[in-house]
Amino acid sequence: MKKVLFYQKDTPKNQLELWNIKLKKWYQDFKLIHLDDPRASEALIALLWKAPMDKICKLKKLEAIISLGQGVDHIINDNKFNKNISVYRIVDPYMAKSMSHWVILSILNYIRDYEGYRKQQINKIYKPRNFLDFKKIKIGIYGIGEIGKVVAKDLDSLGFNVLGWSKTRKDFKFLKNYYCRNGFNYMIENCDIHVCLLPLTRDTKQLFDKDIFLKMKNGVCFINAGRGEHIVEKDLISFSGKNIKLAILDVFGVEPLPMTHPFWENKNIIIWPHVSAETNIETAAEQVSKAIKLIHSGKIPDNKIDLNLGY
Ligand code: OXD
Repeated sequence: MKKVLFYQKDTPKNQLELWNIKLKKWYQDFKLIHLDDPRASEALIALLWKAPMDKICKLKKLEAIISLGQGVDHIINDNKFNKNISVYRIVDPYMAKSMSHWVILSILNYIRDYEGYRKQQINKIYKPRNFLDFKKIKIGIYGIGEIGKVVAKDLDSLGFNVLGWSKTRKDFKFLKNYYCRNGFNYMIENCDIHVCLLPLTRDTKQLFDKDIFLKMKNGVCFINAGRGEHIVEKDLISFSGKNIKLAILDVFGVEPLPMTHPFWENKNIIIWPHVSAETNIETAAEQVSKAIKLIHSGKIPDNKIDLNLGY
């Protein structure tokens, strides 16, 4: 029986068995084995989340890696990664919706000052607070691929003005598209809420630094659910409470966020532990299983990563 390798960092040991049960519902002709299994070298396909790439790339027969998350930076940005291996990712409408819910939650909390009301309640203060008029603000989404476009569409249907940045031009009815460097600069200078949903590539790494924060309007909200490495964290701290009135972060350069990290003490930063759109085995298993089947029959599944673009 063909072996398919499995490794998922920081998850309970029984994850392999859970995936095995869900995957087998769609295709049965393989044996799921852990990276530490002595038969690992027989595997043609690996299902991975943050695996030790040096160990993976020593497996001579490995032809394809399927990321167990939507991002693939944990595979292809590792300098041990062997570019002859094809990489596929999960594109799951359930996960895109989860992200949309999290972004909407963050934006509504911010514009309606949810935190302010929670504090008032502690002091038994019954008084309206200022709010941002949703018609007067611009929301910029950086990254309008499979996830970003769902977020943008949902925000548009709630009546927000949505601007979306992409590397090249995209035509969507529910957002105003800005592209290239000029478009990026326009959004940076004009949006009131910035939402980073970009993939992490060599072009987007540390994209949000002091020069960019300086160009933003005074008192914006910055939301990051892309990757921690999209921002220069020390620059965000210098602009926090100034240009960046509030930052809502779900991702960090080092995860879990170290206890000594200055973000913890910063009252203008809200910390989430990388939960905005977690992989859902129930909804992801079908496409992972079908991708295994296609690869086993010499075909190419959807959602293949262009290693030059990085997504
Ligand atoms: C993902 C993630 O890439 O969880 O799916 O960040």
